[in-house]
Amino acid sequence: MDEYKKFVLSQIGIDRYVLRSNSNKNNNLNKVINEDVLIQIPPLKKNINKQSESNQIVENRQKPLNWQTLTSEIKNCQNCILSKERKQVVIGTGDLKPDWLFVGEGPGAEEDQQGLPFVGNSGKLLDNILLSIGLERGKKVYIANAVKCRPPGNRPPILDEIAACQNYLHSQISLLKPKIIVAVGKTATVALLGDDKTPLGKYRQRHLKFQWNNFSNKFLEPNQPTIPIVVTYHPSYLLRNLNDKIKSWEDLVLAMDILNKQNNG
Ligand code: URA
Repeated sequence: MDEYKKFVLSQIGIDRYVLRSNSNKNNNLNKVINEDVLIQIPPLKKNINKQSESNQIVENRQKPLNWQTLTSEIKNCQNCILSKERKQVVIGTGDLKPDWLFVGEGPGAEEDQQGLPFVGNSGKLLDNILLSIGLERGKKVYIANAVKCRPPGNRPPILDEIAACQNYLHSQISLLKPKIIVAVGKTATVALLGDDKTPLGKYRQRHLKFQWNNFSNKFLEPNQPTIPIVVTYHPSYLLRNLNDKIKSWEDLVLAMDILNKQNNG
């Protein structure tokens, strides 16, 4: 590992890479990659206000979406209670033709203020995590959240709120067509895999595949390709649990391996 990479890893608090990379010599990660776990995504149970105008637009749409229509729908969305107290809708940021899509939970106070995702402390860590795998905000990477409006008091979004925004996230994926998705934290995992019962740890270190569910297919282009997903810890969690940063690094190594394999295959 070169000195620069060591420096970057030390910035995200990882200094045990030598030990771990030795322990990976029996190629555990490759075994995981070949597993190719296929997840069927059921639509989340929703309690969306059916009268909501923007929701009707989504459900009645015949034509494929474009980014402009989608973002203006999201900005006007009133599908759940989070719309009542938001200052700004946070749609996402980055390259609109990304290789990587990182999905977080939802805006906090600073994101709500600025209208951009991951601008607080966890955002700084996310930027360093991106650096550690040779990425930079805005280049080949898009950053979005499972929910687009701030939950009051920075509480985690409840299932109905995640479900109310799930269409938007799936539509973003459909238009961005990333080569790989990294779900950071439980909320993103629920929104992407449609499963709120399984602990996040059970999904780590697996090559999962995002599949379009019937709910999305109603309004998205048919025959969307499947996209690999890797699940890892949320940067806010990592700020409180420093010892798990090494695990997060392992998840990113898995994601890089999947992407390289895909690019070379
Ligand atoms: N900021 C975001 O935009 N998303 C998160 O999940 C956390 C902080």
